[in-house]
Amino acid sequence: MNVSFAMPQNNRDIEQKIDQLLAKMTLAEKIGQMSQRNGFDGNAAMIKAGKIGSLLNEVDPDKIRQAQKLAVEQSPNGIPLLIGRDVIHGFRTIFPIPLGLAATWNPEGVRKGARISAKEAASIGINWTFAPMMDIARDSRWGRIAESFGEDPYLASKMAVAMIEGFQTDDLSRPDAIAACAKHFAGYGAVEGGRDYNTVYIPEQLLREVYLKPFNAAVDAGVSTFMTAFSDLNGIPSTANNFTLKQILRNEWNFDGFVVSDWASISEMITHGYCTDERDAAEKAVNAGVDMEMATSNYEQYLKELIEAGEVSMETVDNAVRNILRIKYRLGLFEHPYVDATDFPEMVNDDYLKTAGQIAAQSIVMLKNENNILPLSKNIKDIAVIGPMADDKFEQLGTWTFDKQIEDTHTPLQALKEYYRGKANIHYSKGLEISRSRDHKYFKEAIKAAKKSDVVLMFMGEEAIITGEAHCRANINLPGGQEELIKTIARTGTPIVMIVMSGRALTMGNILDDVDAILYAFHPGTMGGPAIVDLLTGKKSPSGKLPITFPKVVGQIPIYYNHKNTGRPPIEKNFVQIDDIPVRAWQTSLGNESHYIDAGYKPQFPFGFGLSYTTFAYSDIRISNKTIKMGDEFVVSATITNTGNMEGDEIVQFYTHDISASITPPVKELKGFQRITLKPGQSKIVEFKLHTDDLAFYNQEMKEVTEPGKFQFWIAPNSDSGSPTEFEVVK
Ligand code: NOJ
Repeated sequence: MNVSFAMPQNNRDIEQKIDQLLAKMTLAEKIGQMSQRNGFDGNAAMIKAGKIGSLLNEVDPDKIRQAQKLAVEQSPNGIPLLIGRDVIHGFRTIFPIPLGLAATWNPEGVRKGARISAKEAASIGINWTFAPMMDIARDSRWGRIAESFGEDPYLASKMAVAMIEGFQTDDLSRPDAIAACAKHFAGYGAVEGGRDYNTVYIPEQLLREVYLKPFNAAVDAGVSTFMTAFSDLNGIPSTANNFTLKQILRNEWNFDGFVVSDWASISEMITHGYCTDERDAAEKAVNAGVDMEMATSNYEQYLKELIEAGEVSMETVDNAVRNILRIKYRLGLFEHPYVDATDFPEMVNDDYLKTAGQIAAQSIVMLKNENNILPLSKNIKDIAVIGPMADDKFEQLGTWTFDKQIEDTHTPLQALKEYYRGKANIHYSKGLEISRSRDHKYFKEAIKAAKKSDVVLMFMGEEAIITGEAHCRANINLPGGQEELIKTIARTGTPIVMIVMSGRALTMGNILDDVDAILYAFHPGTMGGPAIVDLLTGKKSPSGKLPITFPKVVGQIPIYYNHKNTGRPPIEKNFVQIDDIPVRAWQTSLGNESHYIDAGYKPQFPFGFGLSYTTFAYSDIRISNKTIKMGDEFVVSATITNTGNMEGDEIVQFYTHDISASITPPVKELKGFQRITLKPGQSKIVEFKLHTDDLAFYNQEMKEVTEPGKFQFWIAPNSDSGSPTEFEVVK
C-alpha cells in the first residue's frame, strides 16, 4: 500500500487540538458530535450544519466520500465523520462466527482475520466497527451466543484483545486501521432465560469476576469505544448505568475513548420503565456517561433544553465531545478523511481466502469419531452428501454478514466435487429444503444416495437467521425434520459423518448414537467448504476445542465448567437415575446430591473438549515450586507427546482451583492455553508462567486479592480431564 501520512500526534498534542476546537464549537455542533445517524440519505443538510458526528450503515463508498466532504469542507469546523458498521466476523471475506473463532483458541488467527476485515472495511471509508462483542454467554438459547467468544472470561479476553489489535493495530492513525468497540457493556450475555433484551441480575462480585473481565482487558488493549447494552443490569438500564459507565469504566479503568448507546437504547429506557419520556432518557443517558446516541435523536432534541434547565452541565457535554474528538484525532481522520480504494488490496483476494480457510479449519471441533471413520478412507468410491447445509452459500456464513457477496462462498459440496473429481462419485441430495423444513420430499432420493454409498456426509445445523440478535430458541435440538432425516438415513446402515453448521451449542442427544462421527463447524464463513473437506480427507487433523459447554438437554442450562461447588457435589457412583427410584420411596436427604435425576450432572461435551486424528499424551506435569511465596512468580509445565501417527495441533489447557477462600471459588478456572503443533512421535514441553496475582479474586470488599492457602492445578486437554496437582501459596 503506497500511502504515507504523518506519524500519529502524541496525546498532549491531541488534547491541545481538542481544546482549541472545542473553544470554537457552538452548543449545536457539540450536540451534533454526540449524534449518530443511519445512512447518508436525508442527512446531508445536517452534516453540513455540523449536526451529525457519525453515520452508521452507510456502505456506498461514493456516499461516504460525499458525506465526509460535506463534513470536512462545508461544516462550520470541518470535523470529519466517524463511519460505523457492524464488521463482526468479516466484511466481504467472512470468517467463522465469533463462537467459532473462539473454538480455534488461536488469538493470532483472530488478529489476522480482524486485520483483513479492517482493510476491507477501511477501503470503502469505514473507520469504526461495532466489534468485538465480548459478552460472556453461558446459555445457548440466546441467539447472540453466536457473536460471543463463549463462556470463559479468560478465553474471551484473549480473543477480544486479539480482535481489537487486528482492527486497530498499534497505530490507529494508519489509514487501514479502524476503531474497535467493546460491546455490550455490561452483562448482556446473562439475559434471563437466554431471551434477548431480557432482564439481567448479576451480583457485583460475579460481575467483576466473570462478565467484566474481557471489557477490562479491552481497555488495557486500548479499545477506542464502548457500546452500552440493551438490557438492564440489577434494575438499572446499562444505557444509564452510573456504576458501570462511571465508577468502573472511567474511575477504575481510566477509559479515555467514548461510549455509544446501542440502537435506540436511550429511548428504550422509557419502555424499560426507567425514564418518563425522551427528555428524561436523554438526561439519564448523558449524565451516566453515554457520549454518543445511536440512531435516535433524543440528544439532538433535548440536550440544549436540559443544559438551560441546569439538568445537564456544559462540562458533561464538553467531556463527551472531547472523548469523541479524541478518537477522531487518534484515527488520523483530520489528516486523511478520504479513502481511495485503490490504495488497498483487493477484497476477497487469494491471501484473504487462504487465511479464512486456515482459521475455519482450526475452528472446527471433532466431537465424535467412532471406529476412526474419519479421515475418510482413500479407497472410498461412493459418497452421499446429504443435508440443507451442504451447498448453501448464504447460510454457512452465519449471523451479521451485511457486506458479504454470497458468490464468494465456497460450499462443502463444491469443495468435495473438486477434491473427488476422477476419484470418487458424489451422490447429492438436499434431504431438506432448509434447516427448519419438515416435509419428506427429498427423503427418497436421500435414502437412494445413502444406499449406494460407502459413507454419508450429512450437513446439518441451523440457518443463519435462526441465530443471532433476537433469534433465541427454547429448544436447541437440530431444528425441523433433521433428526428424522438422520434416523431415516441411519436405517440404511451406511456409516454417517455429520457436519454441523450452527450458531450455538445444539443438544444432539437424540441422534448421537445414529451418527458415527461429528465435526462441529459452527458457521464457518466464506471458506467453510474447503476447510471442512481438508479435515474430512485428512489433509489436516481437527484441532478446534469447545469454547462453551454443550448440554445434553436444554433443561441443564445454565451449565458451564467454571461453576461453583455445592455442599453436596455429585459423585458418579451415587448418581440416582429417575427409573432407579423405588415407588413410594421414603423421602430422605441421605445420599442426595446436586444433579438431575433425568439428565445427570455432566454435560454432553465439556468446555475445552475436541478430538483429533492423532493422540496426545500428557506427562511430567510439574510446578517450579510447590510452596510459593505471595508476590512471586512460578512456572507450571507439562510434556505433551504426539503418540499417534499424524501431525496435529493440540490445545493445551491450564486450569487452577482455589481450595478454600473467603468467597466460594469456582471448581476450575482457565488460566492459560497454548496451541502447539506436533509431528508423530514429537514431544514439547509447554510452560505457563504465573504470578500469585493471577490467582486473585474479588473478595467481599470488592478488592482483588490472592489469599494464602492451598490450590490445585491441571494441565489437560479439556476442562473435564487430567488429575490435579496441589500447591500452596504462603505469606
Ligand atoms: C444493535 C446491536 O445490539 C449492536 O450490537 C449493533 O452494533 C447495533 N445494533 C448496530 O447495528
